[in-house]
Amino acid sequence: MTATPALRATASLRPEQTARLMDETGLDDDILRRLVHRFYDRVRVDLVLGPIFDTRITDWEPHLERMVAFWSSVALMSGRYHGVPVTAHANLPVEWSHFERWLDLFRQTAVEVCPPRGATHVIDRAESISKSLHMAVQDTQRHRCPPHLT
Ligand code: HEM
Repeated sequence: MTATPALRATASLRPEQTARLMDETGLDDDILRRLVHRFYDRVRVDLVLGPIFDTRITDWEPHLERMVAFWSSVALMSGRYHGVPVTAHANLPVEWSHFERWLDLFRQTAVEVCPPRGATHVIDRAESISKSLHMAVQDTQRHRCPPHLT
Protein backbone atom coordinates (compact mmCIF):
# COMPACT_ATOMS: atom_id res chain seq x y z
CA MET A 1 0.00 0.00 0.00
CA THR A 2 1.31 3.48 -0.79
CA ALA A 3 0.98 5.71 2.26
CA THR A 4 -0.72 9.06 1.80
CA PRO A 5 1.41 12.08 2.89
CA ALA A 6 -0.65 12.50 6.06
CA LEU A 7 -0.38 8.81 6.94
CA ARG A 8 3.39 8.84 6.47
CA ALA A 9 3.50 11.44 9.26
CA THR A 10 1.74 9.09 11.69
CA ALA A 11 3.43 5.77 12.40
CA SER A 12 0.71 3.24 13.13
CA LEU A 13 0.37 -0.47 13.83
CA ARG A 14 -3.10 -0.29 12.24
CA PRO A 15 -2.55 1.93 9.19
CA GLU A 16 -6.02 1.53 7.68
CA GLN A 17 -7.92 2.40 10.85
CA THR A 18 -5.53 5.26 11.51
CA ALA A 19 -5.97 6.61 7.98
CA ARG A 20 -9.77 6.47 8.35
CA LEU A 21 -9.67 8.26 11.71
CA MET A 22 -7.30 10.91 10.37
CA ASP A 23 -9.68 11.47 7.50
CA GLU A 24 -12.75 11.69 9.74
CA THR A 25 -11.23 13.91 12.43
CA GLY A 26 -8.62 15.99 10.58
CA LEU A 27 -6.11 14.99 13.28
CA ASP A 28 -2.52 13.86 12.79
CA ASP A 29 0.53 13.44 15.02
CA ASP A 30 1.68 17.04 14.49
CA ILE A 31 -1.64 18.41 15.73
CA LEU A 32 -1.68 15.98 18.66
CA ARG A 33 1.87 17.03 19.56
CA ARG A 34 0.81 20.70 19.62
CA LEU A 35 -2.26 19.76 21.67
CA VAL A 36 -0.19 17.90 24.28
CA HIS A 37 2.52 20.56 24.56
CA ARG A 38 0.12 23.49 24.81
CA PHE A 39 -2.13 21.62 27.24
CA TYR A 40 0.73 20.81 29.64
CA ASP A 41 2.06 24.40 29.34
CA ARG A 42 -1.31 25.36 30.84
CA VAL A 43 -1.37 22.55 33.39
CA ARG A 44 2.08 23.40 34.72
CA VAL A 45 1.14 26.98 35.64
CA ASP A 46 -2.35 26.08 36.87
CA LEU A 47 -2.82 26.81 40.57
CA VAL A 48 -4.87 23.65 41.17
CA LEU A 49 -3.11 21.07 38.97
CA GLY A 50 0.42 22.50 38.67
CA PRO A 51 1.59 21.52 42.17
CA ILE A 52 0.35 17.91 41.76
CA PHE A 53 2.41 17.46 38.59
CA ASP A 54 5.40 19.40 39.99
CA THR A 55 5.95 16.96 42.81
CA ARG A 56 5.75 13.90 40.54
CA ILE A 57 7.36 14.90 37.25
CA THR A 58 10.91 16.22 37.26
CA ASP A 59 11.82 15.48 33.64
CA TRP A 60 9.00 16.71 31.41
CA GLU A 61 10.34 15.59 28.01
CA PRO A 62 9.69 11.83 28.52
CA HIS A 63 6.25 12.60 29.97
CA LEU A 64 5.32 14.75 26.98
CA GLU A 65 6.56 12.07 24.55
CA ARG A 66 4.48 9.46 26.40
CA MET A 67 1.44 11.70 26.25
CA VAL A 68 1.83 12.28 22.49
CA ALA A 69 1.98 8.48 22.02
CA PHE A 70 -1.05 8.11 24.32
CA TRP A 71 -3.16 10.59 22.34
CA SER A 72 -2.02 9.07 19.06
CA SER A 73 -3.23 5.67 20.33
CA VAL A 74 -6.48 7.03 21.77
CA ALA A 75 -7.47 9.37 18.94
CA LEU A 76 -5.98 7.57 15.93
CA MET A 77 -5.68 3.96 17.17
CA SER A 78 -2.00 3.96 16.21
CA GLY A 79 -1.03 1.54 19.00
CA ARG A 80 1.94 3.73 19.95
CA TYR A 81 1.23 3.91 23.69
CA HIS A 82 2.08 1.00 25.99
CA GLY A 83 1.27 1.94 29.54
CA VAL A 84 -1.26 1.66 32.32
CA PRO A 85 -2.81 5.07 33.05
CA VAL A 86 -4.97 3.72 35.90
CA THR A 87 -1.88 2.76 37.92
CA ALA A 88 -0.32 6.19 37.37
CA HIS A 89 -3.39 7.92 38.83
CA ALA A 90 -4.74 5.57 41.46
CA ASN A 91 -2.75 7.10 44.31
CA LEU A 92 -2.99 10.75 43.33
CA PRO A 93 -4.52 13.17 45.88
CA VAL A 94 -7.39 14.10 43.56
CA GLU A 95 -11.17 14.23 43.49
CA TRP A 96 -13.67 14.92 40.70
CA SER A 97 -13.08 18.70 40.88
CA HIS A 98 -9.46 18.10 39.77
CA PHE A 99 -10.68 16.14 36.76
CA GLU A 100 -13.13 18.96 35.97
CA ARG A 101 -10.26 21.44 36.01
CA TRP A 102 -8.16 19.10 33.86
CA LEU A 103 -11.06 18.82 31.38
CA ASP A 104 -11.60 22.61 31.31
CA LEU A 105 -7.98 23.17 30.29
CA PHE A 106 -8.08 20.29 27.83
CA ARG A 107 -11.28 21.55 26.14
CA GLN A 108 -9.86 25.08 25.80
CA THR A 109 -6.66 23.74 24.23
CA ALA A 110 -8.39 21.22 21.94
CA VAL A 111 -10.66 23.93 20.50
CA GLU A 112 -7.65 26.18 19.84
CA VAL A 113 -5.40 23.55 18.30
CA CYS A 114 -7.59 20.96 16.54
CA PRO A 115 -10.01 21.21 13.63
CA PRO A 116 -13.62 21.18 14.94
CA ARG A 117 -14.31 17.47 14.37
CA GLY A 118 -10.93 16.59 15.84
CA ALA A 119 -11.62 18.71 18.93
CA THR A 120 -14.96 16.97 19.49
CA HIS A 121 -13.28 13.58 19.07
CA VAL A 122 -10.46 14.14 21.60
CA ILE A 123 -12.78 15.91 24.09
CA ASP A 124 -15.22 12.94 23.98
CA ARG A 125 -12.37 10.55 24.66
CA ALA A 126 -10.93 12.71 27.46
CA GLU A 127 -14.33 12.94 29.17
CA SER A 128 -14.86 9.20 29.12
CA ILE A 129 -11.27 8.39 30.26
CA SER A 130 -11.61 10.95 33.09
CA LYS A 131 -14.64 9.07 34.41
CA SER A 132 -12.72 5.76 34.39
CA LEU A 133 -9.66 7.28 36.08
CA HIS A 134 -11.84 8.95 38.69
CA MET A 135 -13.52 5.61 39.46
CA ALA A 136 -10.07 4.01 39.84
CA VAL A 137 -8.99 6.79 42.23
CA GLN A 138 -12.17 6.41 44.28
CA ASP A 139 -11.68 2.66 44.40
CA THR A 140 -8.14 3.03 45.74
CA GLN A 141 -9.23 5.64 48.28
CA ARG A 142 -12.07 3.39 49.47
CA HIS A 143 -9.81 0.35 49.95
CA ARG A 144 -6.85 2.17 51.45
CA CYS A 145 -6.20 1.14 55.07
CA PRO A 146 -6.72 3.99 57.53
CA PRO A 147 -3.32 5.06 58.93
CA HIS A 148 -4.11 3.76 62.44
CA LEU A 149 -4.52 0.21 61.00
CA THR A 150 -1.20 0.08 59.16
C1 HEM B 1 -7.04 15.01 38.02
C2 HEM B 1 -6.48 15.09 36.81
C3 HEM B 1 -5.13 14.48 36.50
C4 HEM B 1 -3.97 14.59 37.21
C5 HEM B 1 -3.70 15.40 38.47
C6 HEM B 1 -2.99 13.77 36.51
C7 HEM B 1 -1.68 13.62 36.90
C8 HEM B 1 -0.76 12.78 36.29
C9 HEM B 1 0.60 12.57 36.77
C10 HEM B 1 1.22 13.25 38.00
C11 HEM B 1 1.17 11.69 35.94
C12 HEM B 1 2.61 11.15 36.01
C13 HEM B 1 2.61 9.90 36.82
C14 HEM B 1 4.01 9.35 36.98
O1 HEM B 1 4.79 9.34 36.00
O2 HEM B 1 4.31 8.92 38.10
C15 HEM B 1 0.19 11.34 34.92
C16 HEM B 1 0.42 10.45 33.91
C17 HEM B 1 -0.48 10.19 32.91
N1 HEM B 1 -1.73 10.75 32.76
FE1 HEM B 1 -2.65 11.97 34.08
N2 HEM B 1 -3.57 13.21 35.41
C18 HEM B 1 -4.88 13.61 35.37
C19 HEM B 1 -5.82 13.27 34.42
C20 HEM B 1 -5.57 12.53 33.30
C21 HEM B 1 -6.53 12.25 32.26
C22 HEM B 1 -7.98 12.73 32.25
C23 HEM B 1 -5.88 11.48 31.34
C24 HEM B 1 -6.38 10.89 30.05
C25 HEM B 1 -7.37 11.43 29.34
C26 HEM B 1 -4.52 11.26 31.80
C27 HEM B 1 -3.57 10.50 31.16
C28 HEM B 1 -2.31 10.21 31.65
C29 HEM B 1 -1.40 9.26 31.04
C30 HEM B 1 -1.63 8.44 29.78
C31 HEM B 1 -0.24 9.24 31.84
C32 HEM B 1 1.01 8.40 31.62
C33 HEM B 1 0.87 7.09 32.39
C34 HEM B 1 2.09 6.21 32.13
O3 HEM B 1 2.08 5.48 31.12
O4 HEM B 1 3.04 6.28 32.93
N3 HEM B 1 -4.37 11.92 32.99
N4 HEM B 1 -0.97 12.03 35.17
